[in-house]
Amino acid sequence: METDYDFSAKIYDPVLYLALKPIRIAVMNELLNHKNKSILDLCCGTGNQLKLLSKNGFKNLHCLDLSTSMLKIANKGDYPINIYNEDATKTSFENESFDIAIISFAIHEKTKTTQEKFIKEAHRLINEDGFILVVDYAFDNKTPEIVKKGIDIIERLAGREHYNNFKSYIRNNGLANLMNKNKFKLLKHHKRLFNGVTISRYKKDKALL
Ligand SMILES: C[S@@+](CC[C@H](N)C(=O)[O-])C[C@H]1O[C@@H](n2cnc3c(N)ncnc32)[C@H](O)[C@@H]1O
Repeated sequence: METDYDFSAKIYDPVLYLALKPIRIAVMNELLNHKNKSILDLCCGTGNQLKLLSKNGFKNLHCLDLSTSMLKIANKGDYPINIYNEDATKTSFENESFDIAIISFAIHEKTKTTQEKFIKEAHRLINEDGFILVVDYAFDNKTPEIVKKGIDIIERLAGREHYNNFKSYIRNNGLANLMNKNKFKLLKHHKRLFNGVTISRYKKDKALL
């Protein structure tokens, strides 16, 4: 499907390489004890995260994205990753098909309604003992102004709609609000990119199942 990412697909990895590399490694480190688990990357873009996992011995890897341009890049190279062209708000998988889901840099740019749909779908797709890793922006009083500014510029370049969604996500403490409302419990989180990005691990809140 054609999407806003048709233009940026080719430049996404080269432009963001330096900023994203330490984050990709940090996500992999979070998952090192789960090499045999089934992992689904929702809104995977160029598939960069799962390629890193594949190179490091993870075997049961799945990813999906709506943009055929992003998936064209994801399909490059000889990686045993199952790649699907699907909408993360309503995938074709059965309930509890995966142990772990990743959603990385996909939430902040969406409307509240779509954010809710992503999270509800992730909740449906992981099994009872599974967890999700959410990687996205989160600013606090330790985030330097220059980092906020840099991220702001990148988001501005992504277009007006993305930018407006990003601004309201940041203003409303987006991730914490979203996850609390959607039957997930925070297990742990850590900050990356000079305190501008958080990698958060959530499990299903069994009290609310
Ligand atoms: C900022 S990119 C992030 C890509 C990747 N997860 C990363 O960490 O670099 C956002 C991605 O979400 C995808 N996307 C947006 N809406 C989607 C949807 N409804 N279903 C699946 N993918 C979607 C876009 O095509 C794009 O590849």
